[in-house]
Amino acid sequence: MRSTKRQAAVLLATLMGALACGPSDGAARPAERLSAQAGAPGIGDADFPLDGNGGYDVSHYALKLGYTPAGRRLDGVATIQATAKQSLTRFNLDLKGFKVSEVSVDGAAATFSRAGHELTVAPAAPLRQGSAFTVKVAYAGVPQPVVDSSNLGRYGFIPTPDGAFVACEPNGARTWFPGNDHPADKATFDFEITVPKGVTALANGELTGKPRTSGGKTTFTWREAHPMTTYLATATVGKFQLRQGTTPGGIRNLAAVDPKFAGSLDKLYKLSAEITDHWGTVFGRYPFSSTGGVVDDFSAGYALENQTKPLYGGFEPGADIIAHELAHQWFGNSLSIKRWKDLWLNEGFATYAEWLWAEHKGTGTADASFKSFYERPANDSIWAYPPGRARADDLFNESVYSRGAMTLHALRGAIGDETFFELLKTWTSEHQYGSVTTEQFVALAERMSGKQLDALFDAWLFQPKRPTL
Ligand code: TRP
Ligand code: ZN
Repeated sequence: MRSTKRQAAVLLATLMGALACGPSDGAARPAERLSAQAGAPGIGDADFPLDGNGGYDVSHYALKLGYTPAGRRLDGVATIQATAKQSLTRFNLDLKGFKVSEVSVDGAAATFSRAGHELTVAPAAPLRQGSAFTVKVAYAGVPQPVVDSSNLGRYGFIPTPDGAFVACEPNGARTWFPGNDHPADKATFDFEITVPKGVTALANGELTGKPRTSGGKTTFTWREAHPMTTYLATATVGKFQLRQGTTPGGIRNLAAVDPKFAGSLDKLYKLSAEITDHWGTVFGRYPFSSTGGVVDDFSAGYALENQTKPLYGGFEPGADIIAHELAHQWFGNSLSIKRWKDLWLNEGFATYAEWLWAEHKGTGTADASFKSFYERPANDSIWAYPPGRARADDLFNESVYSRGAMTLHALRGAIGDETFFELLKTWTSEHQYGSVTTEQFVALAERMSGKQLDALFDAWLFQPKRPTL
């Protein structure tokens, strides 16, 4: 696809351009300069070296999709707006499977090649550092979900008898659209999804217009106008019963259930409303324009916090799991992790929210939950796994959830209720729609409490043994 010689000539031309107008960089030797011209195949998360990509930042995805459940075939055109963070002779997108028929950059045909889940795009002319560009990718095929990775079963775009169940954490977005598939690069999304008449397509955010039906097909257009990580994007398709309205607190609410779970619709709608409103008083104003949830007839046995529309796989969700998935709208979705090893910032907080929900309802206390975990024997696996360093080969280990939540409870005990709950609100407001790290949380906790908390966080997050009390 690319001739090395021609590539070298293009690189040299770009290099000369960069030298002519860029800041001088006497230390960089030509060879280093040359290698800096291609965007890296990974965004720089050492635990997931090929996830995401280097050299650019996506600001918006417009996904035009057609899906036919009978043939399990997805036809897509992804239009991606991005900014080059360096001069680029080529850059990568993540895409798993599919036949790519056409790629263009700023309207001009681009050459491309595939290797594993890396789609490499070489624009007709190199992109300059700082320039905005638009890449368009046309692709089609039968989506192939990810199997047996990161200690999960299947995830990604999973075909079901009446449509598809789409849950992508940590890196399954590539199973249905090309992109920068890592949470460090957030972007807004538009979805235009065409499905057979009678079938509903549910994506993130809100409908931008009434569904249009013609020729036996219906097109749904959704927009998520707040920054979102790729793994939170969904286009869940199937037969659904809907209930729409607003929460008592004034937030748009949409519940959708597979007809098999018709009896769960009202409960899902009401609990989602009550819990969203309540978290607004504890974690700060709800960060998105709508809330709700989706129950699909796919026995995942788990749920995912898809932005604005958590997805529950094959069971009637109770208050605990709804409290968990809706807490993620603040912890994980509005504030997203920069690297996967900090996953406790999502799961520890969402698990702690379950304990807080019981406390709010008077059905239990966070202290009792903490104690029941603390009583686990010294050889229990949560003590051997430090939750502050989630491992790629066991990302969703129970410790990330429960010992992560215990960390917050230990912190609450050390700094007192008043400072602790102020800290939660300050954390969500200071980093709203942004990206965060554990170090930033520790620094904020120390700043707000005026206490040295290194030893506490070290024992709870980083040591492979049960902390002493
Ligand atoms: N984040 C989910 C939770 O709320 C767990 C999860 C991770 C998941 N990857 C998933 C769920 C993929 C569904 C599909 O705990
Ligand atoms: Zn979770």
